[in-house]
Amino acid sequence: MTMSADPQKTFYLETFGCQMNVHDSEKVIGTLVHEGYRQVETVEQADLILYNTCSIRDKAEQKVFHRLADYKKLLAQGKKFGVLGCVAQQEGEKIFERAPYVSLVCGSASYRNLPQMLIQLETGKQAGKPEAGKPLRVTGLDDRETDECFETEFTARTNPHRGYITIIEGCDKFCAYCVVPFTRGKERSRTSDSVLAEARQMADLGYTEIQLLGQNVNSYKDPAGKPGGKKTFAELLAAVGEVPGIRRVRFTTSHPRDFGRDIIDAIDAVPALCDHVHLPVQSGSNRVLNAMQRLYTREQYLERIAWMKAAKRDISITSDMIVGFPGETEEDFADTLSLLDKVGYDSVFTFKYSPRPNTPSLALEDAIPDEEKARRLEVLMTRQKEIQIIRYKKYIGAISEVMVEGKNEARGQWIGRTSQNKTLNFTAPNSSAPKVGTYVSVRATVSFPNSLLGEMVV
Ligand code: 5AD
Ligand code: SF4
Repeated sequence: MTMSADPQKTFYLETFGCQMNVHDSEKVIGTLVHEGYRQVETVEQADLILYNTCSIRDKAEQKVFHRLADYKKLLAQGKKFGVLGCVAQQEGEKIFERAPYVSLVCGSASYRNLPQMLIQLETGKQAGKPEAGKPLRVTGLDDRETDECFETEFTARTNPHRGYITIIEGCDKFCAYCVVPFTRGKERSRTSDSVLAEARQMADLGYTEIQLLGQNVNSYKDPAGKPGGKKTFAELLAAVGEVPGIRRVRFTTSHPRDFGRDIIDAIDAVPALCDHVHLPVQSGSNRVLNAMQRLYTREQYLERIAWMKAAKRDISITSDMIVGFPGETEEDFADTLSLLDKVGYDSVFTFKYSPRPNTPSLALEDAIPDEEKARRLEVLMTRQKEIQIIRYKKYIGAISEVMVEGKNEARGQWIGRTSQNKTLNFTAPNSSAPKVGTYVSVRATVSFPNSLLGEMVV
């Protein structure tokens, strides 16, 4: 790797999409800074403009193309453009046709080659290709079959208290609706030794909360070769929770098929593991789950929920759901609504089914009209809101420990987050104003459908 002599090289990076993308961006920023670039806040100040993109649903990728069209005028100023992430991988070289002023298209499986790609961008040379008169086009699109992860020591974490660690990249599940296996490539895990070393390093830097990330985090398979040294996901989770200084460990996103009881045992045994599980169900109907190729039944899903409900602590459960999958009948949708009642989620991310390139469900007939998807979404959200109103009310009077995340000056309230991942805002006497990143006890006094309000216990 080279350190540049030019201190003026600047970049602007905008991130769309999931936490995985947010964390990838932290690693991309760290890499660019190590290569001599300086991050700037506006496109006008930047030599290199990068978008880390998402293609999970239709609107996500449209946004990127609109943004690129907006910035076309900046080309005249000699700026370079790069598209990273899931839209980059999905659309590939087609991006150059749609936006000819783009010079770099790179999927997440190729990020570890970014330093070389930056050199190509800077020198204007494309590996192995004659470039006379041709626009500069650098690509990183051919690594989806790699066994390597994007491991870097140059991660530019933005929050000094809470940080992400990717433990597994890619996805091998191929749910019928999902673009991720095509954009992020095949599953590959980091060694538990490397994950634990990063966790210890973060603890040394003062981090107290770690979130383990993976598109399919609990499908983690330790590639470490040492006999007896391999850790299961639950063992790794517990080990991160036991790193001195680490007070909270979260993990996302779990797949029900790979969700073993040992994860709940670990949460029972290790106090630092947060009492929250995000377990996307997608649908409450076995017929739809089967068509979605989710590899579990409603009954198997509910069995996992029962394990959580039998845990020593009150585990908060959240989920993702899709309405209007092709062929979803009123009866199927009623099954989804009854699952909501049965589980009692604290939060559900709800989506209208959106057809995605390359996915198996593209070929399915019986598309649900958009108005009907919208109606079902509305019904689902209304029902879930009623459930949350009742669930959140139960916390009134209870004392919880929160991590202080900041202050809402306009309201004179501090922003806190509980181990269950609930927002618990609170007031505190001026004499004992808490510091961001510390942990304080708060008694909840008022409940809303999505948050709680309370008073700091002094
Ligand atoms: N259409 C709608 N929602 C989708 N999700 C993933 N793919 C699609 C799609 N094609 C939702 C799922 C997933 C969440 C991250 O996004 O609910 O869990
Ligand atoms: Fe979007 Fe999925 Fe890619 Fe994350 S992995 S950025 S959610 S498409």
